[in-house]
Amino acid sequence: MAVSGAGGGGFVLLPLLVVAVVVLERSATVLLADAARVPLTDVSSPPAPSPAADAPSLPDVVAVSPSAAARIQNEGDKRYQKQVLIAVILALVGVIVMAVSATYARTFWRKARQALDSNDIKLQNRGNGQMLLPVLGKLNSNKMSNKEVIAMMDFSVLETATGKFNEKHILGKGGFGCVYRASLDGGVVAAVKKLNCCRQEIETEFENELDFLGKIQHPNVISVLGYCIHEDTRLLVYELMQNGSLETQLHGSSNGSALSWHIRLKIALDAARGLEHLHEHCNPFVIHRDIKSSNILLDSDFNAKISDFGLAINGGNHNKDDQNPSGTVGYVAPEYLLDGQLTEKSDVYAFGVVLLELLLGRKPVEKIGDSHCQSIVSWAMPQITDRTKLPDIIDPVIRNTMDLRHLFQVAAVAVLCVQPEPSYRPLIADVLHSLVPLVPVELGGTLRIVDEPHQTG
Ligand SMILES: Nc1ncnc2c1ncn2[C@@H]1O[C@H](COP(=O)(O)OP(=O)(O)OP(=O)(O)O)[C@@H](O)[C@H]1O
Ligand SMILES: [Mg+2]
Repeated sequence: MAVSGAGGGGFVLLPLLVVAVVVLERSATVLLADAARVPLTDVSSPPAPSPAADAPSLPDVVAVSPSAAARIQNEGDKRYQKQVLIAVILALVGVIVMAVSATYARTFWRKARQALDSNDIKLQNRGNGQMLLPVLGKLNSNKMSNKEVIAMMDFSVLETATGKFNEKHILGKGGFGCVYRASLDGGVVAAVKKLNCCRQEIETEFENELDFLGKIQHPNVISVLGYCIHEDTRLLVYELMQNGSLETQLHGSSNGSALSWHIRLKIALDAARGLEHLHEHCNPFVIHRDIKSSNILLDSDFNAKISDFGLAINGGNHNKDDQNPSGTVGYVAPEYLLDGQLTEKSDVYAFGVVLLELLLGRKPVEKIGDSHCQSIVSWAMPQITDRTKLPDIIDPVIRNTMDLRHLFQVAAVAVLCVQPEPSYRPLIADVLHSLVPLVPVELGGTLRIVDEPHQTG
């Protein structure tokens, strides 16, 4: 029956059918009982003498001929059958109407539940600036109990927590606004990204970020703790990553000096784990579209987490005719830039660029001369594939501090990731598997260091 096919309506039908059978049975019984009550005159036996038989009245029994009696009985039978049939039809119609209504009610109920479960409802409810759930007091930089729940926060709370968005609190600046350090009640510290929403693009990215980060929970993906909508301003509250971004670590004032060889590999491994989660374990899978060193954030132990899901997209949702590929110069895969062809391999390309930054300590795009720029890929390619040259182009901060065999392996992975042809690039799961044995156990890999690492040169 179509009803039972419509999402488990069968469980509703069973009791209904039982009710229908009972109704039918009852209708039939009533009708038969009525039938039994109708006096059928027996013409063969004489009528019983009545006490008033002597009275001069109308005769008690009208004599009926046998054929007429049979006709009357026949008509009576037909009438009962007709009534039973009508009762059956009515009962069946009733059952069908009840079953269909039950199925619709169930479908409606399920849809309403799904809508409640989705972030859409949360986004629609964001307007009044109230604190929905006091979750912040329970959070620290590593844990979040339930990512489905994103707290809506009062503007005044965030204003106070950031010293009215004081410059002294700025952790970093992005294309759309600044990120501030915030001290919230109960000693909780967080990072607050402030976006001045005069452009639709920013609003869209803000909603996308909330949408994705509300659903994705992984140790290598940043946690969003809250948000706020205040007039034209949009605020996102994240767990604070004490060591900032990989970009500031590598290309900021410390020039990567805080990042040893093994820490760099750990960061690459963590980022690969986060990305593998998006590509392989999210359903539908997620293409981040903006993997870059500034979107890889580092906590106090240099655990790396992927951030900024403003451009993220669900796999299969990409419109191939989209003429404006999104991403950051230097990280965008050539096939996406030139043909709009977007797959997980675009993220793998960007990951390869980050790996080159970690190895070489160079920016993804560097100025050469007054009017020329060169990408790290085109700069590195001829030298990184030459084993005799490779050790000399490694970031001076870590040069000669690693096992050369490990260096060759990581360089080979990076070269594969930035292949111009996407099908030659590995899956991020393959990258992950090749990095795991190169990272010490205490940093999340499987490498057991027995002796001091082999020093070259
Ligand atoms: N949760 C966080 N904890 C600590 N620092 C952060 C956090 N989020 C961002 N930052 C810092 O703020 C900087 C700016 O971040 P933001 O995401 O706004 O821009 P971006 O990624 O650098 O560039 P773009 O706007 O092009 O994406 C980051 O590079 C990082 O140094
Ligand atoms: Mg960012």
